[in-house]
Amino acid sequence: MNSLNQFAGQARELLRRDTTWPFLVPRKRSVDVSKNVILYLEGLNVSFDGFKALNNLNLYVNDGELRCLIGANGAGKTTLMDVITGKTQCDSGSAWFGRNIDLLAHDEAEIAQLGIGRKFQKPTVFEAHTVFHNLELSLQGSKGVWSALTAKLSSSECDRIDEVLKTIGLEKCRYQLAGALSHGQKQWLEIGMLLAAQPRLLLVDEPVAGMTAEETERTAELLTSLAGEHTVIVVEHDMEFVRSIARTVTVLHQGSVLAEGSMDQVQSNPDVIEVYLGEEA
Ligand SMILES: Nc1ncnc2c1ncn2[C@@H]1O[C@H](COP(=O)(O)OP(=O)(O)O)[C@@H](O)[C@H]1O
Ligand SMILES: [Mg+2]
Repeated sequence: MNSLNQFAGQARELLRRDTTWPFLVPRKRSVDVSKNVILYLEGLNVSFDGFKALNNLNLYVNDGELRCLIGANGAGKTTLMDVITGKTQCDSGSAWFGRNIDLLAHDEAEIAQLGIGRKFQKPTVFEAHTVFHNLELSLQGSKGVWSALTAKLSSSECDRIDEVLKTIGLEKCRYQLAGALSHGQKQWLEIGMLLAAQPRLLLVDEPVAGMTAEETERTAELLTSLAGEHTVIVVEHDMEFVRSIARTVTVLHQGSVLAEGSMDQVQSNPDVIEVYLGEEA
């Protein structure tokens, strides 16, 4: 029994220095963005019982860009995110992550490991754990099951968590229970949990729904600060918010791209006015 414990202790110690065990840690394949494009979606079609949720959709997103996706309910925004993340299979078309990774050849778990993080609308933080522990768990989860054996964080992992805490503005709340955070802070923590895994591409669904004006403004700053190092695609209905963060806006309608450009360009596009923004006015 003793020698078993000793062995387990040694194994833990070795695993802790996980750089020496590359075969145990899933390695992120590097994404070929030599053409400056990180996402190529071409001719995507998805049908549900004959209804075309995506209809010959083409979309290209540049590396490091912050892209906003807007469109009326049912336009296909969530379905598009589901296809990118491998949750929904498309009937036809192609989806490439950089020039070298065929997303349609990977399942949902593999796509997450490839460096595509997704934030759903409802925050799913562990309320009974501290902010720090939430980030720790997501960092370990992103490394695979073996890291669960290595209870202790390496110093570079601690640095990584500190960096994320700073980015999401929750440094002072690190020992607070996540359940005690405000709605906005929970959303930031969840973004932080995605960032811990250092994704190349982040998909964010309606981040400011239910936020106060101040939280909304802070979220705009946060997402803007992430662009560059990460590519960020945001689905959002709040037009003021979209205006405050977007450089390029893509408007979806009936499963296709209706218009693309700056907020001013799409807002003055007659097609857009007719089918979407006109509806709101
Ligand atoms: N799993 C599903 N089964 C049947 N219909 C679906 C499914 N998912 C989405 N749809 C339909 O596809 C269309 C596009 O939905 P969705 O992508 O959720 O739009 P959005 O996110 O832009 O509101 C909607 O008409 C929706 O009802
Ligand atoms: Mg949706």
